[in-house]
Amino acid sequence: MTNFFKKISYTIAQRIWSTKYPELELPEMPPESTVNTKLLGSRFDLLKSLPRASRGAELGVNKGEFSQAIMEIVEPEELHLVDTWTDKSLHQMCIDQFESLGKVQLHKTYSLKFLKDQESDSFDWVYIDTDHSYKTTLEELMESSRVVKNNGLICGHDYTLISSKGILRYGVVPAVNQFCKDQNYELAFLTHEAHRHLSFALRKRT
Ligand SMILES: C[S@@+](CC[C@H](N)C(=O)[O-])C[C@H]1O[C@@H](n2cnc3c(N)ncnc32)[C@H](O)[C@@H]1O
Repeated sequence: MTNFFKKISYTIAQRIWSTKYPELELPEMPPESTVNTKLLGSRFDLLKSLPRASRGAELGVNKGEFSQAIMEIVEPEELHLVDTWTDKSLHQMCIDQFESLGKVQLHKTYSLKFLKDQESDSFDWVYIDTDHSYKTTLEELMESSRVVKNNGLICGHDYTLISSKGILRYGVVPAVNQFCKDQNYELAFLTHEAHRHLSFALRKRT
């Protein structure tokens, strides 16, 4: 292909992409929300910062790879694994791996439905990793702020703008920043992986 046709094809593809995935407004994280932020190497270090023997939930589980790390590193007293699991084989894989462990409860449902069914101030932490859209993430953060204890942590994955395959626009950054601004939360931990699919942990400002 000549450079001219390459340029035209690229421009057309970019126009279609920008129409399908319009740019989101990007509110900044308020400065007062980052004064106490601790930078961690990876999300496995974040797990080391979560309280042992705690009550937690992973929202968005997929094959359960990170759930396994949670079990090994956090050793929670009670772990709730929540996913819609449209792929039956993945659901079965998680049932086989976790259900007999006693401390783990699996919930095949939407994250928001799960959160709305929980009592207020009943979790030490949650880790959000579902569809990464602005709307879902903001709603998950709002509902988590009710469900997580006052001194607890609201954590999540993919604090980044674009999906790993470079196709989808993620709404996690604007949702987290907006939430911290409106609800007076601070960024307690931020991870620093080279691939930039960062994890965050938020806590209520005192
Ligand atoms: C990125 S994967 C989770 C990966 C997992 N946390 C890990 O680190 O290994 C996202 C998962 O979220 C699930 N999901 C997407 N939207 C959801 C929603 N609204 N409620 C519950 N699960 C959802 C998908 O089925 C998928 O398995």
